[in-house]
Amino acid sequence: MTTGSIALTNIGQLVTNDSERAGLLGVVENAAVVIENGLITWIGEQRDVPEVAVTLDCHGTAVVPGFVDAHTHAVFAGDRSDEFARRLRGETYEQIMAAGGGIQSTVAATRRAGLPDLTAVTMQRVRRMQAAGTTTVEIKSGYGLDLDHEKRLLAVAAAAGSAVALDVVPTFLGAHTVPPEFAGDADGYVDYLIAEVLPDCAELSRFCDVFCDEGVFSVDQARKVLAAGKQFGLVPRLHANQLARSGGVQLAAEIGAISADHLDHLEDGDIDVMKEAGTVAVLLPGVSFSLRLPYARGRDLWDAGVTVALATDCNPGTSNIETMPFVIALACQEMGLSAEQAVWSATRGGALALGLEDRGHLVPGAQGDLVVLKHVSHTHLAYRPDAPAVGSVIKRGLVV
Ligand code: NIG
Ligand code: FE
Repeated sequence: MTTGSIALTNIGQLVTNDSERAGLLGVVENAAVVIENGLITWIGEQRDVPEVAVTLDCHGTAVVPGFVDAHTHAVFAGDRSDEFARRLRGETYEQIMAAGGGIQSTVAATRRAGLPDLTAVTMQRVRRMQAAGTTTVEIKSGYGLDLDHEKRLLAVAAAAGSAVALDVVPTFLGAHTVPPEFAGDADGYVDYLIAEVLPDCAELSRFCDVFCDEGVFSVDQARKVLAAGKQFGLVPRLHANQLARSGGVQLAAEIGAISADHLDHLEDGDIDVMKEAGTVAVLLPGVSFSLRLPYARGRDLWDAGVTVALATDCNPGTSNIETMPFVIALACQEMGLSAEQAVWSATRGGALALGLEDRGHLVPGAQGDLVVLKHVSHTHLAYRPDAPAVGSVIKRGLVV
C-alpha cells in the first residue's frame, strides 16, 4: 500500500519511543510528523514543519505509535458467556476445561462455522481492534486442530488483515489442546501435527506457539513441536507458566523463543532466565482480570531488565478483550507499571515481541502507524480508563 504525503500537525505531546531522545518515551512537545509513501520521513517541532499538501491538525492532543497487540486468538466462532457465568459462580477455568468446556467448545463452534461467517466475525473483531488504535496484531490459529481447519483459521486471519488495512502477523498454534479425535493421546496428536499439519501451515505462518502447561502439552511435547516448527522456518514463542510453573520459561530460553507469554506463575529464578536469554515477556492482564486471578509480576520483570510487551490475548475463554487502552490501564493498576512503561510495552514492546524493528516507535524510516488520541497526554490512557481514547488511526500514512 502506498500513499502520498501527510503531515500531522499541532501535536501537543508526541510519544516517539525513540531511544535517541530523552526519557523512555522520547516525548516531543508541540510536535509534527510527516509521513511519505507510508513511512515516517520527518519528526520535529511544529514551528519547523515542512510544507505538505495534506495535513491533519491534532489540535494539541497526544499522538502515540500504533498499538502492536502481540498475542491474540482472534479467529474464533461462538460465545462462552455461559462459562464466564459459571466462573462467577465459583468454578475454575481448569474445572470447566476438565469437564469438556474451555478451548474444546470453541474448537467445536469454530469448526462448525461456515467460512463466510467466520470471516465476517473475525473482520468485525479486527475492525474494532483497529478502531481502538491497534495497527499490527498477531493472530494465532488453534481452534481448528486438524489440517483443514488450522489452514482455514490462518487464511481467515490474513483475509481479515487485508480487508481492514491492519497488519496481521500469523502464528501456528496447532498445539493449543488435544482435539477429540486424539483424546487421551497427546503424543499421537503431536506426531500428527508435525507430520501432517505443520508443513502446510508453516507457509501461512511466521511463528510457532504451543500451550505448554499443566494438563495441556508437556515441556517435551512443546520442545518437539517448536523444534519441528523451526525446521520449517517458524520462530518459536510459547504460552508459558499460565496455569502453573510448568518449565515453559526454561524451554523458551533453551529453544531461543522470541517471547514467553502469560507468565502468571514466576519465581525470581525464572525472571533471571528470561533476562539472560533475552526472551520478551508478553503479559496479558486481561486474563487475570477476566478469571479474577493474581496478575503477572510486570513491575519485577521490568525492573530486572526483561523486555515487556502487553497484549490483549483476545479469545472467548480467558480474555474476551479487544482493546489495548484497556490493557494499558490494567497493567498500570494491577501490575505496577508506570504509564510510560505500559505505553512503551503496548507499542515498542509489542513490536519487539514480534521481531518487527520497523514499528512501535516513531523515527524516520519507521512505518507511519500512529494513533491520534482524544487526550492531551498518554497518561490519560490509564487515568481515564473508560473514556473514548482514540481520535484517528493512521496506518502507513492513511487515515483508516
Ligand atoms: O491464551 N492459554 C491458552 N489459550 C488461551 C485460552 C483459550 C481459550 O480458553 O479459548 C489463553 O488464555
Ligand atoms: Fe493466549
